[in-house]
Amino acid sequence: MDALLKKLSEARGVSGNEEAVRQVILEAVREHIDGYRVDALGNLICYKKARRQGGASWPRKVMLAAHMDEVGLMVTGFNNDGTLRFGKVGGIDDRVLLSKQVLIGPDAVPGVIGYRPIHLIPRAERNRPPDFSKLAIDIGASNQAGAEKLVKLGDYVSFRTSFEVLAEDGLRTVKGKAFDDRAGCAVLVELLKGEYAVDLYAAFTTQEEVGLRGAKVAAYAIAPDVAFAFEGTICDDLPSKKDVSPVTELGKGPAITFMDRSFVADRRLVDLLVRTAEKEGIPYQFKRAVAGGTDSGAIHLSREGVPAVTVSVPSRYIHAPVSMLSLLDLEHTVQLVQKSLHNMEGGLGS
Ligand code: CO
Repeated sequence: MDALLKKLSEARGVSGNEEAVRQVILEAVREHIDGYRVDALGNLICYKKARRQGGASWPRKVMLAAHMDEVGLMVTGFNNDGTLRFGKVGGIDDRVLLSKQVLIGPDAVPGVIGYRPIHLIPRAERNRPPDFSKLAIDIGASNQAGAEKLVKLGDYVSFRTSFEVLAEDGLRTVKGKAFDDRAGCAVLVELLKGEYAVDLYAAFTTQEEVGLRGAKVAAYAIAPDVAFAFEGTICDDLPSKKDVSPVTELGKGPAITFMDRSFVADRRLVDLLVRTAEKEGIPYQFKRAVAGGTDSGAIHLSREGVPAVTVSVPSRYIHAPVSMLSLLDLEHTVQLVQKSLHNMEGGLGS
């Protein structure tokens, strides 16, 4: 699974420009699905009919969602000195931008978000976040005309981060960019390899980071009975503070959401996941913060409403150039959802 995650993580797909990620996913799922289509917003919707008979009459049509896009930047202007002005696509803290390497546009032009060396920063300024308006991307061009030969206005900018396996110990920790939400994409690809007694509609969605936009139209088209969204969510277990409960912890299993800023999870689906985890001995945890939004926020408000839940792989340092996760958590997330889909065959209760 690390080979797939490496490909997904290194693919460049800032919101609205998910093509490269879509190609990696299509290649991985093509032989496991009955069909697919790409809609007007770029969502990749894969369809897999129930392989086994029986089961409850409801829910029959299950939507599984993971977003393909990642946070990044966009070129918004040129400075006379050949550097580039830029805007943010999705939520990024200014402080994580300093001194980072980036790739720009379809030709992956390399650049650096340079920052003054410490020698030139007055002592009083060192404790303050940088002034975003003064940040620029340096591509080494000597003037504006030189820069315009290499990049265009509106070009997407992604962080330049290679995927690596960091530890071969129990947790099998890896680092890379965009685990929010390539971790969810990897989970969904693996799930499509299984066989189920329900009809699966796997939506690899676009533009989640700018407002859950792809999921909104995907859910409308699919009109599912229930939905699961998969995420790479906040993991703030380091450094561990005594008496403070982290949002999630690395290596403690998939994180189930009760509520975030975009939706309240359907308790029948939460119960199904918990029951399944207990029965199968799969580790799990709850996301212990009402923070962020997920595709479930758009999906649960589709048409006449859709019961939804979000399951996440804990990922340290998300919305930054590099994040970390445990492959063990990724595998446990796949197992938990796979078994839960089987356990759903008897229905969900009232
Ligand atoms: Co995100």
